[in-house]
Formats: sequence, structure tokens, C-alpha cells
Amino acid sequence: MPKLKNDTFLRALLREPVDYTPVWLMRQAGRYLPEYNQTRARAGDFLSLCKNPDLATEVTMQPLARFPVDAAILFSDILTIPDAMGLGLYFAEGEGPKFERPLREEWEIRALTAPDPVEHLGYVVDAVRQIRHALDNSVPLIGFSGSPFTLACYMIEGQGGTDFATVKKMLYQRPDLLHHILATNARAVTDYLNAQIEAGAQAVMIFDTWGGALSHAAYREFSLRYMTEIVSGLTREHEGAKVPVILFTKGGGNWLEAMTATGCDALGLDWTVDIGSARARVGDKVALQGNLDPAILLSEPDIVRTEVGKVLASYGRGNGHVFNLGHGISQFTPPENAAALVQAVHELSRPYHIG
Ligand code: CP3
Repeated sequence: MPKLKNDTFLRALLREPVDYTPVWLMRQAGRYLPEYNQTRARAGDFLSLCKNPDLATEVTMQPLARFPVDAAILFSDILTIPDAMGLGLYFAEGEGPKFERPLREEWEIRALTAPDPVEHLGYVVDAVRQIRHALDNSVPLIGFSGSPFTLACYMIEGQGGTDFATVKKMLYQRPDLLHHILATNARAVTDYLNAQIEAGAQAVMIFDTWGGALSHAAYREFSLRYMTEIVSGLTREHEGAKVPVILFTKGGGNWLEAMTATGCDALGLDWTVDIGSARARVGDKVALQGNLDPAILLSEPDIVRTEVGKVLASYGRGNGHVFNLGHGISQFTPPENAAALVQAVHELSRPYHIG
């Protein structure tokens, strides 16, 4: 395998020395970029874009042409797995994701099986291969998946933006059914991420977007437990290189020590956490990724630069920081503010890595 020209991101995840703090942005390919909207219009809709490896490669590369980010992330969605399970994913214009056939009846839940990623999610595996080719070893490629619990939220509720009443009712009334869904999802996610790694993903991230909606005890039993299973089942070394695993529970700031115990390499932090305090809590066990409030990117370049400086100062000197937003970039972000962020991280972080 030829060497990566820029492996700063992978080294930071493994807590190795770097010259500057690497940066990428959650949802860095997306609607805030006019070129994304053009490609999406050519595809017809978002899902057709995800399912077309040529176009998925094109939009993955778009933010890299604009900003010197230190990683690319596969352009896809976490809901490809439930779609491959037969639930019928669709995106109504102007609304979030929805399923035609959400899980309602016990027999539907019992019939659920983990899809074979090569057979049923071949378009994702193909996109990973094509993106690696397009990247030409410039920066590493991140693969990703949703967490079993976050996927279950959409599979049971049938859409996002709910108060999770249906999934939580099942959690307390029929935990056996929810565990069946979660165990199936954990198998599916493990196979899916391993297929992405096999195809060339050089790091993987698990998005537990809704784990933070759970109680302290339920988080451990219904989300963390299954992410731990996944971390143990992942291919952690591929073609002679380590494949770091990043775990991100939005709203999980209270549970960082428990998340660290999964055996992952890094934790993603949302913006509600002070990254310096988080570092003191997890010690040298994991790297940290985050955690600028994405709303700051709605302001202006000078303010972005000041706020970037605060996050870098809070983390402090030394290794193990990957700069990112605390959640996905807003579609209303002016691209020049994203450019200011990347530049500020690269410039302002150097003093923290000297000596
Ligand atoms: O980071 C990247 O650039 C990679 C692409 C990516 C997308 N979705 C593209 C996308 C990633 C990593 C995701 C993950 C994802 N998808 C999550 C977990 C991360 C998070 O945000 O918490 C979740 C919960 C989903 C499910 C999903 N997909 C929702 C709730 C929505 C609608 C949200 C919105 O902004 O409208 C999507 C659609 C989606 N996924 C878009 C993009 C670029 C916008 C779709 C469009 O072009 O219309």
C-alpha cells in the first residue's frame, strides 16, 4: 500500500505526535455547498445520490476541493441499513427521513435479519472503493454507521423528530423485543463497517445521535452494550495499518468514562461538554474529537477564529485531539465560515504541538 500523504488525522486518533491539530467537519459534504445542491439535483433526490457510487464520490470530494480538511467521510446515510432490511426508506422533500414500513408488530420484529453488506449494500462498498481511488492517498477516508439504538429509533418511530414515545414504551414494556432489534442491528452494523474497512475505509465512526435521550441506566443496557459488541467485532487492522474507531453519543457528556471502556480509540464530543474537562476525565485512554457549536459557523470569520482558539486552548498542549463540530454543519452555513474554521485550526493549533 502506498503511504498516505497526510496521515495527521489517523495519528491524532491514535494519540501519536502531530505538527498541528487535524480537522474535518461532520456533514462536510452537504446542502451548505452550492456544488452539492447541483449534484443532488442531477441525482434527483438525496437517496438516489447515496445509491449512485459515481455521484457519492463526487460529493465526498467537494469539500476537499474547497478546504484543506484532514479527512474525507464517505457520503452516505446511517439509514441505509434499515433500508436494506426492507423498511422502505424515503425522504419527503423538506422533511427528514421516513420509513414506509416501520417496525410495529411482533412478527415483523422477529422476522428482522442483518443484511449481507456485499449483497444488499453493494453501492456503499463500491462508493468506498471509488472514493479511495479518487482520494489517491491524499487524506484518509472515514467510514461510518449509526448505532444500534439510533437506528432502532428510526425503525420503530418510522421517522425522526419525535419524542421517542414508541421506542421508549417498548423499552420499558417489551425490553425483549427491543433487545432483539438491537442485537440484529449490532450484527448488521459490525458486518457493514467491516465491509467498509475491507473496501478501504481507514477509520470508522459510530453515530449514536439519540443515545443521549436515554436514562443513565437505559443508556448502558440499550445503547452502550451494543456499541461495545460492535467495537469488539470490528477489524482493527487492515493492510498493515490500524483502523481507529470513533464513538459519538450526542448528549453523552455524562458517560464518557463508560464510553471509553468500550475499547474505542476516540470519543466524539458534542458542544455541551468542556473539552478540557473531558480530557481530564478520560486521561490517556482515548483521543477526543470535537467540539465547536455548529451554530458559531452562522456568525462571521473573525468570531469563528476566536471560538476555534477557545476550543484549542481548552484541550491544551499535546496529542489526541481531532478538531470537529459538536454536531453536523448547518445547511445555512456560509462556506467562507467553514473555510475560516479550517484555516484557524491549522494556524492556531501549531503552538500546542511544539516541544
Ligand atoms: O458527514 C458527511 O459529510 C457524510 C454524510 C452523512 C449524511 N448523513 C448525509 C446527509 C452522515 C455521516 C450522515 C449521518 C446521519 N444521517 C445521522 C447521524 C449524524 C447526525 O447528524 O446525528 C443521522 C441521524 C442521519 C439521518 C438523517 N439523514 C437525517 C435526520 C437527515 C435529515 C437531516 C437534514 O439535515 O435534513 C438526513 C439527510 C441527510 N444525510 C442529508 C445529508 C447531506 C441532507 C439530505 C439532503 O441533501 O436533502
